[in-house]
Amino acid sequence: MKETKLRKVVIIGTGFVGTSYAYALLNQGLVNELVLIDVNKDKAEGEAFDLNHGMAFGAPMKIKAGDYYDCHNADLVVITAGANQKPGETRLDLVTKNAKIFKEIVTQVMASKFNGIFLVATNPVDIMTYITQKVSGLPKERVIGTGTILDTARFRYLLGEYFHIDIRNVHGYIIGEHGDSELPVWSHTQVGAIPMDRYAGMKDIANHPDMKHIVERVKNAAYEIIDRKGATYYGIGLGMVRLTRAILNNENSILTVSASLEGQYATDDIYIGVPAIINEEGIREIIELPLNKLEQEKFNESAAIIKEMTNTALE
Ligand code: 2OP
Repeated sequence: MKETKLRKVVIIGTGFVGTSYAYALLNQGLVNELVLIDVNKDKAEGEAFDLNHGMAFGAPMKIKAGDYYDCHNADLVVITAGANQKPGETRLDLVTKNAKIFKEIVTQVMASKFNGIFLVATNPVDIMTYITQKVSGLPKERVIGTGTILDTARFRYLLGEYFHIDIRNVHGYIIGEHGDSELPVWSHTQVGAIPMDRYAGMKDIANHPDMKHIVERVKNAAYEIIDRKGATYYGIGLGMVRLTRAILNNENSILTVSASLEGQYATDDIYIGVPAIINEEGIREIIELPLNKLEQEKFNESAAIIKEMTNTALE
């Protein structure tokens, strides 16, 4: 009998984000082994039981609560653990709290002899991804943050809604910090293959009031949701499944992730949201969009904010 290749994912942190991701994975049949780790072992066990009871209706796979040893042969370790944003708190407010938690988690994962890919979703994600790479010592391309994958999805959703176009035919990117200083790349936003400004008949699209409003809604989306329901998780959970698929199926898909820059976008030594080609090696290549002057200035400001917060986290 042909042996099926083990496709194993370990989730660290079984809060709303970790479990939404697990639930979406169960629906899509991408992996054959899923391990849940949480500081609260009972919570991880309860989640594993609950997910297993849905197995008859989802994709067959092995799901269990485990410990750090389970990371030794995992393809992907997904970290969602850490404190989350309280109403009124920015993602960057979390930095010191989560940096400490991450140093412990990543050290324990590496002690298992893990040699796969890390996917980080905890906020502030650009900084937590940087810490994961530094503490793990894994090659930079094998440490990926969810970055602006969700902001990009929100942007495309809102543009699709505004112009009545299928979201899958709206192409555009939100880059920079996953947070308040992120920016849209209007100069490379398209409907089908048509530049958005031409399609919309808007000469200065970045300053059109309706488009500015859309960008504000993208930036404030997390605050809006947190005010209403306390946390955001379905959108990011699905974004993480999309990334998992690109990695495990070696898809070479372009997704906006938090990646380590080495001179691209005139930036280095930080993790920041940019489009990148994702495959089984992790980040195969960073896509360097030629930014206009204003976009580059905004990107530089965003990079400076991340750099400062990264330094604070490392202190
Ligand atoms: C989000 O953007 C809070 O980072 C989370 O939904």
